[in-house]
Amino acid sequence: MQDRYLRKVNYMRISITDLCNLRCQYCMPKDGLIKKYHQDMMTFEEILEVVKSGVKLGIDKIRITGGEPLVKKGIVDLVEAIASVEGIKDIALTTNGLLLKQMAKDLKKAGLKRVNISIDSLKPHRFREITRGGDLNAVLDGIQEVLHLGMSPVKLNTVMIGGFNEDEVEDFVRLTISDNIDVRFIELMPVGEACGWAQERFISNEEIKKRIETLTLLRYDKHEDGPAKLYQLPEAKGRIGFINSISDHFCGSCNRIRLTNDGKLKPCLHSNHEIDILQVLRSNPKAIDNFLQRAILSKPEKHRLYGVEQEIGYRNMSEIGG
Ligand code: GTP
Ligand code: 5AD
Ligand code: SF4
Repeated sequence: MQDRYLRKVNYMRISITDLCNLRCQYCMPKDGLIKKYHQDMMTFEEILEVVKSGVKLGIDKIRITGGEPLVKKGIVDLVEAIASVEGIKDIALTTNGLLLKQMAKDLKKAGLKRVNISIDSLKPHRFREITRGGDLNAVLDGIQEVLHLGMSPVKLNTVMIGGFNEDEVEDFVRLTISDNIDVRFIELMPVGEACGWAQERFISNEEIKKRIETLTLLRYDKHEDGPAKLYQLPEAKGRIGFINSISDHFCGSCNRIRLTNDGKLKPCLHSNHEIDILQVLRSNPKAIDNFLQRAILSKPEKHRLYGVEQEIGYRNMSEIGG
């Protein structure tokens, strides 16, 4: 359905857990998050009800996020159940990739179409530093596995951090040459843990593009839905994307609504306005279509991260799933 600003909303991002097997410095507190009570979280059956309700309103694309969705018990069954909902055309997952090598085959069998993998450095020691202990090789093995299974393009999400990984831009870009890999550079957003970070760590994609000196970027014009501005190296199999979340926000073409694992609908990633759909599901399940519709209609025109009426989200990124 369309929202008040005539944007077609067809994409639901579902964060199924806020727990994670990593602790990326910009995303998770060092000691992780306090576990929620079981009864405060959505069951898979409840998530399915919201998906079915979404389909009635025109949702046809689902992305499962976390925390880290692959640590959630029963995830393969959930993928299978969502994939078999009539009307769902695309089901994808955003993951840190650590568990992909062993799980990708089952996920594909269950109906998963694509995965986006977060990877911020190609140097093992840096990867360990930013993720507070992660094993880069496990992620690289996971990427190979999904390529091998033909779940492509495989999209890599790389958050660029000033003074940390900006010298690796060309190394990431080269990954697109021989495999169907899309590398997407994401501007760090002042959310959760990253809120208090020094200004020098926020680096615009304009700056990142300048780091590509020895390679030729061509504009990739074919229409793609998604927030990334796309480029390609001559003859390369994959593409390079710039997700300019800060310098050139894409709110005008926003097509998404989010669902958190504690059952809140979030009309905007950066707003604290939430609708408690879990409570509705448990007290008056017939009303969920109506509440979902209301949530879509309450999508703001754009985020208010800056300016006079600034609104900073109170949730960590790991609770929202990006
Ligand atoms: P596809 O286009 O379906 O492949 O996925 P995607 O790019 O929508 O999903 P992904 O989970 O890989 O997100 C990529 C980056 O875009 C993450 O850093 C998200 O935080 C950011 N992002 C996703 N949705 C929004 C949004 O609505 N607003 C802003 N500002 N950033 C977003
Ligand atoms: N700014 C930009 N991207 C972020 N992500 C997590 N926190 C932030 C942030 N503060 C990214 C992760 C993951 C995606 C879902 O969101 O790297 O790829
Ligand atoms: Fe986990 Fe992803 Fe957050 Fe890193 S960015 S702590 S991998 S949820």
